[in-house]
Amino acid sequence: MNILLKGGLFITKLDGKVAVVTGAASGMGKAIATLYGENGANVVAADFNFEGAEAVASEINDAGGSALAVSVNVTERVQVESMIDTAIDAFGDLNILVNNAGIMDSFEPVGEITDEKWDQIFDVNTKGVMRAMRKAINYWVDNDKEGTIVNTISTGGLNGAHAGVAYGASKHAAVALTKNTGWMYAKKGIRVNGIAPGSIETNIGSSMKDISEFGMERAGMTHGLSPRIGQAGEVAEAALFLGSDASSFVNGTILTVDGGWTAGF
Ligand SMILES: NC(=O)c1ccc[n+]([C@@H]2O[C@H](COP(=O)([O-])OP(=O)(O)OC[C@H]3O[C@@H](n4cnc5c(N)ncnc54)[C@H](O)[C@@H]3O)[C@@H](O)[C@H]2O)c1
Repeated sequence: MNILLKGGLFITKLDGKVAVVTGAASGMGKAIATLYGENGANVVAADFNFEGAEAVASEINDAGGSALAVSVNVTERVQVESMIDTAIDAFGDLNILVNNAGIMDSFEPVGEITDEKWDQIFDVNTKGVMRAMRKAINYWVDNDKEGTIVNTISTGGLNGAHAGVAYGASKHAAVALTKNTGWMYAKKGIRVNGIAPGSIETNIGSSMKDISEFGMERAGMTHGLSPRIGQAGEVAEAALFLGSDASSFVNGTILTVDGGWTAGF
């Protein structure tokens, strides 16, 4: 647990904050939700794997924290909006939104990508993020409140070929969403940042079907240069920093968490 000493009292880094974390049933979302819970946040663990989200919320509550699970498919506008409303109804406010839910493509280069696959990847990785951001931002602006958004993006949002063309394009768009929104609302006490993880050990491979041999071989050359595979907890620590007041002057930027991988090219 990360504990600060302030005025003789022990407080945690996110004491009393209300945080929504999407994709919280697995991988980095699970690690972020858990670390936020350990740090005093009221956590809404949101995922379309509701059982998984419930298990994470139970673990947080059993450890003395405060959490509830919400079923959400981030491709559905109504569900995304109701996820934010549920957080506000249950805990009285919204302070932090972590847009973490995401899926991989199957390493298809542009010659192999279908319209359907392109739309699916963008619906989850980009449009779902925009819709949750829009809902949270309007809540803060309408109520004259401050807030912070952390988007789990990818080194694939900064570089050309860490996956296929659809994943890369969807994550580049998420970088633009992050920077544009960080700038637009900078004078309203709203901060928006992204994390660009490198290769992290999670369950994301399970969303990959019918891998493109050609695309995998090309992208695999860059993956071969990664110094090591990271752990979800290492990304969660970056999300804790960006979600907390420790990063109060950090806005509109992308923090690469890749063990130095992309510094090399
Ligand atoms: N694992 C990596 O190497 C890596 C690297 C860079 C970025 N990322 C990004 O990190 C984020 C988290 O991925 P992860 O690696 O922890 O994967 P993961 O598969 O372990 O977890 C992703 C979670 O998102 C949920 N999810 C997927 N689609 C959803 C939808 N439509 N609505 C609601 N929930 C949905 C899944 O149920 C799952 O619980 C993603 O945005 C991914 O693109 C992953």
